Amino acid sequence: MTLLVAISGWDPQPWQEQFAALLPDRKIVTLDDPFDRREVHYAVCWKPPAGSLAHLPNLAALFSLGAGVDALLADPRLPDVPLVRIIDANLTARMSEYVVLHCLAHLRQYRRYLDQQQKGLWQDDRSQPAAHEISVGVMGFGVMGQDAARKLSAIGFPVRGWSRTPKDFEDYEMFSGPEGLELFLARTDILVSLLPLTPDTAGLLNHSLFSRLKQGGKLGGPVLIHAGRGGVQVEADILAALEDDVLKAATLDVFSAEPLDPDSPLWKHPSLTLTPHNAAISTPASIAHNIAAQIRSFEAGGLLQGLVDRSVGY
Ligand SMILES: NC(=O)c1ccc[n+]([C@@H]2O[C@H](COP(=O)([O-])OP(=O)(O)OC[C@H]3O[C@@H](n4cnc5c(N)ncnc54)[C@H](OP(=O)(O)O)[C@@H]3O)[C@@H](O)[C@H]2O)c1
Repeated sequence: MTLLVAISGWDPQPWQEQFAALLPDRKIVTLDDPFDRREVHYAVCWKPPAGSLAHLPNLAALFSLGAGVDALLADPRLPDVPLVRIIDANLTARMSEYVVLHCLAHLRQYRRYLDQQQKGLWQDDRSQPAAHEISVGVMGFGVMGQDAARKLSAIGFPVRGWSRTPKDFEDYEMFSGPEGLELFLARTDILVSLLPLTPDTAGLLNHSLFSRLKQGGKLGGPVLIHAGRGGVQVEADILAALEDDVLKAATLDVFSAEPLDPDSPLWKHPSLTLTPHNAAISTPASIAHNIAAQIRSFEAGGLLQGLVDRSVGY
C-alpha cells in the first residue's frame, strides 16, 4: 500500500520522512519517485501539479496539507474521493497568534511608534483607545475564526462573527449570509478575514465592502487584516480605499498572485503591513501525525474528520 506525497512549492522530503516514520508498513513516495499508480491508496497534497492525481484507480482518500483546498479544487481532474482538509491545533494556534498580534499592532499604533523611534521623536498625544472600545469583526467563523475570537475576547476586544450558515455563541454577536453582512460591517472597526476562497467569496473584500465598515471609530477609520486567501481580496480596491480614507490601514498575509510581484505598489504603501503567506504554516511533525492517525482510524472503520463539502468549496 502506497502513500503519495504530492507537493509543489515546498520541499517534499521532510514530509516523506515523517510519513515513513509514522506509517512504516507503507511505501511513501513523492511525485518524482517511480511508483505503481495502482498501489496508491492515499495522497497527501499541497498544490500538486494539475492532473498529477488522476489515474490512481485505488485511491481511497485525499488529504490536503493545508486548511484551504481552493488550489486542489481548481484541478478539473481531481479524483472524486473523500477530500480531507487539515484541522490542526498547532496550525490554528499560529493563526490566532497572527490575528492577535496584528489587532494589537493596530490598536497600539505600533507602526507609528516605530516610525517615531526611527526619527528620535518623543511624542504622545494620549490618543490610545482601549481594546474594549474597538470591535473586531471576524469573517469566516470556522476553526480558525473561533479560536482567534476566543483569544481576542480574552484581551478585551468585543468580537462579532460572520459565517455562511447561522451560528449561535453566547460570547459573540453573530451574523450570517449576505443578509447579515450589512449590520456586521457597520459594527466593525477591525475586519479580520479568515474566509476560504470559494466561488462565493472570490473578490468579496472590495471597495464597496470596505465603504460599508463602521466609520468614525476610535482607530480613526476601519482596518483590514486578511490571512484567508488572496483571491478573496481585490488589491487595487485596497489601495484605492486607503487613498480615499475608506480604510485606515491593512495587514495582508495573502495575495492574488504569490509571491507578490517585487514591483507591486502594495510593498511600499505606508499604511500596509505585509507578510509572505506565513500567518499559519503547516509543519510536517504536527500535521503528518494527524493524517497518519486519521488513516489508521479510517481503516479501522472510523469516520474521516475535516471532510470538504465540494458543493460549497471548503
Ligand atoms: N494565511 C495562512 O497562513 C493560512 C493558513 C491556514 C489557513 N488559511 C486560510 O484560512 C481559511 C479558514 O480556515 P478554517 O480552518 O477556519 O476553515 P473552516 O473551519 O472551514 O471555516 C471557514 C469559515 O468560513 C465561512 N464561510 C465560507 N464561505 C462563506 C461565505 N460565502 N460567506 C460567509 N462565510 C463563509 C464558514 O461558514 P460556516 O461556518 O457557515 O461553514 C466558516 O465559518 C482556510 O480556508 C485558508 O484559506 C490561511
